[in-house]
Amino acid sequence: MAAAPTAADLTAMVDRRAAGLPLEHVLGWAEFCGLRVAVDPGVFVPRRRTEFLVRRAADLVAVLARPRAVVVDLCCGSGAVGAALMSAVDRLELIAVDIDPAAVRCARRNLTAAGGRVYPGDLYDPLPPELRGRVDILVANAPYVPTEAIGFMPPEARDHEPRVALDGGADGLDIQRRVAAGASRWLAAGGYLLVETSERQAPQLAETFARHGLIPQVASSVELTATVVIGTGPAPQRGTGG
Ligand SMILES: C[S@@+](CC[C@H](N)C(=O)[O-])C[C@H]1O[C@@H](n2cnc3c(N)ncnc32)[C@H](O)[C@@H]1O
Repeated sequence: MAAAPTAADLTAMVDRRAAGLPLEHVLGWAEFCGLRVAVDPGVFVPRRRTEFLVRRAADLVAVLARPRAVVVDLCCGSGAVGAALMSAVDRLELIAVDIDPAAVRCARRNLTAAGGRVYPGDLYDPLPPELRGRVDILVANAPYVPTEAIGFMPPEARDHEPRVALDGGADGLDIQRRVAAGASRWLAAGGYLLVETSERQAPQLAETFARHGLIPQVASSVELTATVVIGTGPAPQRGTGG
């Protein structure tokens, strides 16, 4: 009711919700980490559980204690994760990427005013080459629903969120494997890769991290029913003279 300027608008909004549109698409925003994040039609609605990814990433930015940490959010969707990180942590250089033009437009609405940059494209492809070896924190809430399981998702998701935001391939790990495979090229010495996943998929994803030279650790939150695999990147080189 607070979001509808007139009674006619309220009726139209209720009709859209009753027809199955996610509440966040009806309102045009989602609450995420205490922020109001704009969510355009056809863009993935940020989930509460992803707040755990944000918390863990913010903790690691604090551990690194860089004067200005470089954070890359791959598969950024609305940009919710980056927006929450920029709000939680001072002096962050945030770069976000998404393959879906609607998500890129939406993420720009949420991130550019605070200084974040958003690039369209496939995972690492659009990142500026000067970021190679300079990324302190790589976060990704990439699609991880196995193709066959999409049909069992609530209608809000399967009918109103784009397939590209959900479909992780036969075992749900197709995109995450590519994220893990590319991380070492972009991470700074001692940097971290954090990928949201399910409890069931976490052991396999952790193995994938290890295969690509990252030291994996699985973190979970019972409160948020959330699981994140965290990989520590290559250790700082000694004796290189800085
Ligand atoms: C599960 S949604 C998560 C969005 C956002 N990170 C969040 O937590 O709200 C996954 C996002 O990944 C994007 N995506 C899928 N494949 C991609 C790829 N190959 N490169 C970049 N983005 C991709 C989709 O467009 C979608 O916005």
